[in-house]
This record gives sequence, C-alpha cells and structure tokens, in this order.
Amino acid sequence: MAIGRGAGARRETAPAPAGAVALDGVAVRFRTRRREVTALTGVGLSVAAGEFTAIVGPSGCGKSTLLKLVAGLLAPTAGEVRLSGEPVTGPRHDIGFVFQRAALLEWRSARRNILLQAEIRGMAKETAARRAAELITMTGLDGFEDAYPHELSGGMRQRVALCRALLHEPPVLLMDEPFGALDALTREQLNTELNRIWRETGTTVLLVTHSVSEACVLADRVVVMSPRPGTVTGVVEVGLGPRREFAATVERREFRTATARVRALLGATSTAPASPGEGEGMGD
Ligand SMILES: Nc1ncnc2c1ncn2[C@@H]1O[C@H](COP(=O)(O)OP(=O)(O)OP(=O)(O)O)[C@@H](O)[C@H]1O
Ligand SMILES: [Mg+2]
Repeated sequence: MAIGRGAGARRETAPAPAGAVALDGVAVRFRTRRREVTALTGVGLSVAAGEFTAIVGPSGCGKSTLLKLVAGLLAPTAGEVRLSGEPVTGPRHDIGFVFQRAALLEWRSARRNILLQAEIRGMAKETAARRAAELITMTGLDGFEDAYPHELSGGMRQRVALCRALLHEPPVLLMDEPFGALDALTREQLNTELNRIWRETGTTVLLVTHSVSEACVLADRVVVMSPRPGTVTGVVEVGLGPRREFAATVERREFRTATARVRALLGATSTAPASPGEGEGMGD
C-alpha cells in the first residue's frame, strides 16, 4: 500500500488485479439544510489485491464514509476511487459488506439469510447452496443452519453476516466494526477465524475498527486517520506473517511495536478539536 502518489503511478503501468483498491485525492463533503460537513479530505490510499488493511481513527473521522465510497454507495466530492482497476461509479457487486450489527432477516433461517445474497445476485442455486455449506463449516455454524436469528448468539449472528458477505466470493470484503458489539472472548475467537478465512479465500479486506489490538492482530497494515475532516495520518506496517492466532499474536514483539506506533499516531492527532466522545474505545 502507498499513500497519495502510488495509486496514480500504478494506473499508468499494468492494469490493477481484481481486488485492488485505490483512492486518489478523495474528498467528501456532506451538505444538509442545517450544515455542511467535510468528512474526508485529500485521502490517498492504495491497497494491493489480497492485502488485509485495518482503518482506525476517532469517531466521526470518515471511516464508514471511506468504506461506502469503495462500495459505490457514495460518490466522492473530489478525487477518484478505483476498485479492481476500474473507477467506482455506482454500487458494486464485486464486494461483500459486513456491518457493525448483523442485519439479518428475523423470519429467515441462518442458511436462508446467507442465501439472500445469491437471490439478490441471481446466482445459480446449486453453486450458491454448495458455497453456503462450505462457509457454514468454515465459520463453525454446522448444526445451526436452520436456526432463526433470535436463536443465535451475537457471535453466531456475525458469522452468518460474514458468510452472506462472502457467498459470491467477492474479491473485496469491507467490514465496518463487525465485532464491536461482541464480548472480548468471542471477539478474539472471531479474530482468529477471520484471519483463517482471509488466508483461505485470498480476498482483499478493509476492516474499520476502534480496537488498536484487533487492527494489529489482523492487518498487514494499519491506516491511521486524523479527526474530521479525516485524512490519512500514517500507515503502520505490522510485520507479522499471515497466520495470526489472537492469544499468541498479542505476545509477539512485532505486535507490541505496531500497537505502540498506531497509538502514537492516534495520540499525535487527538489534540485537534473533537466532538464529545471522540476517541472512545481506541485504547484497548
Ligand atoms: N449521509 C450523511 N449526511 C450528512 N453527514 C454525514 C452523512 N454521513 C456521514 N456524515 C458525517 O460525516 C462525518 C463522518 O462520518 P462517518 O460515519 O464516516 O464517521 P466514522 O469515522 O465512521 O465514525 P464512527 O467511528 O463513529 O462510526 C460525520 O461528521 C458525520 O456526521
Ligand atoms: Mg462508522
């Protein structure tokens, strides 16, 4: 990953592979009747295909906005967003999106919530059923395929949401604080699972999190953003191999070095004016 210039330079040479993400000089301004908010300014970011990138920054700095740009759910006010080498001009089908709270349909079983993705995209039924079965096993949901969301724990619901996001084998997986509402132990377990799934699928991952530990356990690189208007303050290379088991990883020297560097970058930016509650949850 490179900041700023990298995205443009790469475009002129070889075409970007499926899953590569690039933002170049991106700004987003929201104008409502009551105010105008600059959410992002001068954001440059280039993520290689298959790379795991975590994004941390104070509340309101534009992290969710950044993911929405990549998904094509929002257009930038200035600059360019490219996915798999193509400019993003509308909602993209080659992404999977996992939200903070699993948005499951209460009247559908776990399996049928996962298969919703196939119905929306018109995937062949047999392919979808086979892929759903694989994902159910991969995420440890075997035996709960026919359970309804109210019969599932919070961690299981997030697993169903993850399966749904991965059903169509998207080259890019966008995750917006997917484990924020879970207890610490479940979260650690899902971190280890997500690492394995990432290694098995080879998908590019952009993970927004408020947890510095989670970012450094999972990511190849951690992007640190400034308070609003959000921009990239720095990028920390975690320097751990691809295999990450939560408990073992947090003991490693590279992990401690990376978390210290991320915290220093966050601290360096937290003196800017902040709205109440900003920076909460960044200390774990
Ligand atoms: N649709 C919108 N209309 C107007 N303002 C918006 C809209 N979406 C986001 N904003 C504003 O843009 C800024 C960035 O919002 P965003 O949701 O991207 O922040 P965030 O970094 O994800 O915060 P958090 O960590 O709390 O989730 C905020 O000031 C927010 O009020
Ligand atoms: Mg957000």
